[in-house]
Amino acid sequence: MAPRTKILSLLLLLNFYVAAAQFFINYAATDSCQRPTEYYNFANLRCDTCTGADSQTSTGGFSCACQSGFELTADIGSSQVTCAACAAPTPVTSADGWACVSCGTGTSLDPVTGRCTPCPAGQIAVERTTNGTQTSQHDCVACEGDTVPNAAGDRCVRCHQSFIDVSGSCTCPDPNQVHGGICFTDAQIGVSQNLDFTWDSDTKLSYYIEEYLLAASLGCTPATGATDAQRNLTACQLLGNLCVLRLYNRQNDGTNQEDGCTLLQALSDDNNDNVGTVQDWKVAMPWLYYNHLLNDVSEILSDTEITTKFTFTAASQSSKLDLVVAAYSLNGDFLGIQDVTGGLLQVGQWL
Ligand SMILES: *[C@@H]1O[C@H](CO)[C@@H](O)[C@H](O)[C@H]1NC(C)=O
Ligand SMILES: *[C@@H]1O[C@H](CO)[C@@H](O)[C@H](O)[C@H]1NC(C)=O
Repeated sequence: MAPRTKILSLLLLLNFYVAAAQFFINYAATDSCQRPTEYYNFANLRCDTCTGADSQTSTGGFSCACQSGFELTADIGSSQVTCAACAAPTPVTSADGWACVSCGTGTSLDPVTGRCTPCPAGQIAVERTTNGTQTSQHDCVACEGDTVPNAAGDRCVRCHQSFIDVSGSCTCPDPNQVHGGICFTDAQIGVSQNLDFTWDSDTKLSYYIEEYLLAASLGCTPATGATDAQRNLTACQLLGNLCVLRLYNRQNDGTNQEDGCTLLQALSDDNNDNVGTVQDWKVAMPWLYYNHLLNDVSEILSDTEITTKFTFTAASQSSKLDLVVAAYSLNGDFLGIQDVTGGLLQVGQWL
C-alpha cells in the first residue's frame, strides 16, 4: 500500500505544478538535511529539526530517534520523540530503540559508537527470547545445524538445500561455487561455461545477469537422463525474465555463446512436451516466442480463430476486453493471476 500512496501524492503534486506553471514548489532534496539533528519532513518536503531532548535523525533520515545510549519512551511519529538515558549495567540502546541492554556473549561495547560490536560471521544478535521477552543483554549466538544468519542477522534460518546436498552443512567449499544464492558443484558449472553476459557486441555486464544467468541456466536444464518436467520452475521463469531484460534479443555474434534468450529458445526447442495443444508453449517453460522453426508469427498474424468482434462503443458489452496476467517477480517467483488494473500493464505504442 505504501508505495502506491507515495506515487499518488507525487502525481497530485505534478498536476498542481502543471496547472500553475508559474508557481514553484520549493522542496529540499531528501539527502540535504544536516545530520545529526535534521530529518527530512516528508509532509512539507523540507529539512526540520528533531526537537526532543537527546534525540537525533533516524537511520533512514525521515524521522527522529534517540541518540545512542538512550532508549525511546514515547514516539508518535512526530519530530519530537522522548528519550531516557541508558545507564550501567545496561548502557546500550537495543536494536529496536525501545530498551537498554548490555553487550553480552561474543560482543563488547564499542566506545566510539556506544553500541555493541558486530557479531562474528555465522552468528546472530539476540535481544529477545523466543516468546518475545526483551532481554537485558545483547548476545551473539552461533547458528547451528543446517541454519545460517538471515539478512538482518537476527534469526537463524535453514540454508538452501543445495549447500546441504553438496557439503552436508551450510558451506559450499571450493571448487563448488555460489551463484544466485545456490551452491553449484564443480561438475554442474563445467557444463555451463559457455554463457554470454554481454549486450550485443558491447562488453558491458549487468551484475544481475552475471549473478543469475548461470543459476537460471543450471536450474532450468534437466539433469542428464531426467525428463522435461524435472526442471526448477522458478529458475525457468527467471531465465525468461533474463531474456525479457535483453528485449527478447537473441545474440547472433558467431561466438556460439548462449545469452538468456538463446538459452531459453534452446531449452524450449529441446522440450517435446507441450502445454495442452499449444505447440509453442512448452511444459515448465515461460512462453516468450512463437515457434521460430515453424515461422509461426506470420501464421498468427493472419489467424482467424478468434471470431469475437470488439467495438469502441462504450455501451456495448464487446467494447470491454477483460485482460488478466500471470505475474512473476524478477527472480521467477509466481505472484499470482492478477487483473490488469491500476497501471499494471503499460500499453506501448507498438502493442
Ligand atoms: C517467556 O520467556 C521468558 C524467558 O524465557 C519466561 O521467563 C516467561 O515465563 C515466558 N512467558 C510465557 C508466557 O511463557
Ligand atoms: C529454483 O531456482 C530459483 C532461481 O534460481 C531458486 O531461487 C530456488 O531456490 C530454486 N529452488 C530449489 C528448490 O532449488
